Amino acid sequence: MINTNNTLLEIRNLSVTYPTRRGEVKAVENLSLTVPAGGRLCLVGESGCGKSTVLHAILRLLRPPGRITNGELLFRGRDLRKLRAKEIQGVRGKEISMIFQDPLTTLNPVFPVGEQIRESLRLHQIIPGLSLPWPLDIIRRKQEKEIVLKAMQEVGIPSPMDRYSIYPHQFSGGMQQRALIALALVCGPALLLADEPTTSLDVTIQAQILDLMLKINQDHNTTIVMVTHDLGVAAEFCDTIAVMYAGRIVEIGPAETIVIHPHHPYTRGLLTCRPHIGEKAQQVKPIEGNVPDLTHLPPGCAFAPRCPLAQTVCEQGPVPLIQVEKNVLTRCLQPVDNRRDPSWTWDQIVRI
Ligand SMILES: Nc1ncnc2c1ncn2[C@@H]1O[C@H](COP(=O)(O)OP(=O)(O)OP(=O)(O)O)[C@@H](O)[C@H]1O
Ligand SMILES: [Mg+2]
Repeated sequence: MINTNNTLLEIRNLSVTYPTRRGEVKAVENLSLTVPAGGRLCLVGESGCGKSTVLHAILRLLRPPGRITNGELLFRGRDLRKLRAKEIQGVRGKEISMIFQDPLTTLNPVFPVGEQIRESLRLHQIIPGLSLPWPLDIIRRKQEKEIVLKAMQEVGIPSPMDRYSIYPHQFSGGMQQRALIALALVCGPALLLADEPTTSLDVTIQAQILDLMLKINQDHNTTIVMVTHDLGVAAEFCDTIAVMYAGRIVEIGPAETIVIHPHHPYTRGLLTCRPHIGEKAQQVKPIEGNVPDLTHLPPGCAFAPRCPLAQTVCEQGPVPLIQVEKNVLTRCLQPVDNRRDPSWTWDQIVRI
C-alpha cells in the first residue's frame, strides 16, 4: 500500500472545516494517506463523511466557507497548499484533473462538448502560442481539435467527429460521463480525482466506465483517487481502500484484505448492508443509527454510538489508527481476536 519511493501524492494530517452558524463542521480531521504513482485508491464511506471534501481540498476548490485548517498536500513533493493562485490554476486540469460528483453541472450547457474539451487544451497551452496571428491560429485550433477527437475516441465516444459539435443535453448519461473523462484526461494529468463517477449510471454503464478508467490507469499510468460509497465498486476497481467515517479514516489497506477480512466494525457494516442478487430485502442489514453531527463529535470513537462491540474505553478519548496486519491500519480498540472471531457475524451483533 505505502510505497514512499514512488509516491505521487501524500496527504499529511489534513483537517478541513466549514464554519457555520451551528458551529465548525469538522468535515475532515487529521487525515493522512499516500498514493504511489500509477496506484488506484478509493475513499469509501456513507454520505456526509467528508469524501468529496478531501478531493476538493487537494485542488483547493473547497466550497465556501470551507477552509483547510491544518496539514500538507504534497504532490510530487510540492505542497499544493503553498502554491500561489496562478500556480494552482496551472496544476488543475493539467497535472491533476477532477471528475466532479454531478456530470451535468460540470459541462456547460451552451457550448458544444468538443469545444469545451478543446478549451482545456487552449488554457494550458498544450499546443504553445495563445494568441497566434492567422493562419497560425487556425493551424493551432486544428491540432487541438485532432487531440480532442483522439481523446473522445479513446474514451469510447462513437463517431467523435459528429459528436464534437453537439451539446451536453444531446448526450446520454453514460456519454456525458465519458465526455467528462475525456475532458479530465485531454491534458495528460498524472493524477485523476474522480468523485462518484459511476453513481448516477445504470449497472452496465457503470461497469463500462470502471473498465475505461482501469484501462486509462494501465495505458497511461494515470494515478486515480476515486470516491465511492459502494465497497463493491471499490473492491473491483482499486488496489487500496480507505474507509472514512465522520471525517476520519477508520480503516486503510489493500482492497482485497479490506473486503475479505475487514477489521473495523464500520467496514463490516458497510459490507453487510450491500444488497446481493438472490437476497431478500429483509436480509440486507443497514447499520443502525446515523452519522454523528460533525459540529459536535464525541470525544472517543465517532462510531462507538452505533457500534455493537463498543465498550466504555472506546468512548473515553481519541482512538489512533493501529497497525493490525501488514499494510492494514484500523481505528478500533477492540482486541483483534474479538473482531476476527469467525463466529462473529454482523447478524449476531447488530441489535435488531
Ligand atoms: N459548503 C458547506 N458548508 C457547510 N457544510 C458543508 C459544506 N459542504 C459540505 N459540508 C459538510 O461537510 C461534511 C462532509 O461533506 P462532503 O460533501 O465532503 O461529504 P461526502 O462524503 O462527499 O458525502 P456524499 O457521499 O453525500 O457526497 C458534511 O457534513 C457536509 O454537510
Ligand atoms: Mg460527495
